[in-house]
Amino acid sequence: MVDLHSHILPGVDDGAATLADALAMARAARDDGIATVVATPHRNPWAYRADRADAERRLDEVRVACRQEGIEITLLLGGESHIAPDLVDQVERGAAITINGGRFLLVEWPYEQYPEYSEQVIFDLQVHGIVPIVAHAERYRFVRRDPNYLATLIERGVVVQVTASSLLGEFGPDIRKLTEILLTHGLAHVIATDSHSVDRRAPTLSAARDRAAELVGEDCARAMVADVPSQVVDNHSFDLPPPKPYRPQPFWAFWRSGS
Ligand SMILES: [Fe+2]
Repeated sequence: MVDLHSHILPGVDDGAATLADALAMARAARDDGIATVVATPHRNPWAYRADRADAERRLDEVRVACRQEGIEITLLLGGESHIAPDLVDQVERGAAITINGGRFLLVEWPYEQYPEYSEQVIFDLQVHGIVPIVAHAERYRFVRRDPNYLATLIERGVVVQVTASSLLGEFGPDIRKLTEILLTHGLAHVIATDSHSVDRRAPTLSAARDRAAELVGEDCARAMVADVPSQVVDNHSFDLPPPKPYRPQPFWAFWRSGS
């Protein structure tokens, strides 16, 4: 398995605080059957400005420590960029870090709002050959309000990531349900951990993969934790199946079923 979203890099954001924390996360990931972890430190205008050279140096420290501890895992660099009007400029300057130096960029939105400039930024990224991956899609209000909005993004080539622990109920029943809806309607392509420590969103994928298999079958579940994220880290292009429209049950359906 390949984890495309992890705050394993120590001392740069609200993820791993120390090298020991990062090692514990790497060990838990490896023990869960994860072969590759992409370190995706936050990058946003108000708190975290992970500098690429610093991120690379810290990642090397974790790699060396893993080797010394006998933890066999591949660690790659990426970043989690906050949506911003100048995101293309950030990519071109090398400030926003794409996944493993390829064309895929993990992008997060504010939880409660979808800025009007988002459409333009997505367009600009794509014109520059960058494929946005929507980070933890199940946690945004704009997705809660209308899951089908993701279909319009997917039809334009955007990739969608959901969080393993959301599928397991760590964020409550509503987000769990929404994550299930995204999976069963082809509105999500990647399950990743977004792990911040061994306890906070654990760095493991197998339980979420097994739950996904119950919902969408073994092949689709494996694609979400292995095949698709592997293509992303290898910078390959791939086709995504068209999403199925989500039709919320009208309230009278409950009334009828109860009558
Ligand atoms: Fe994250």
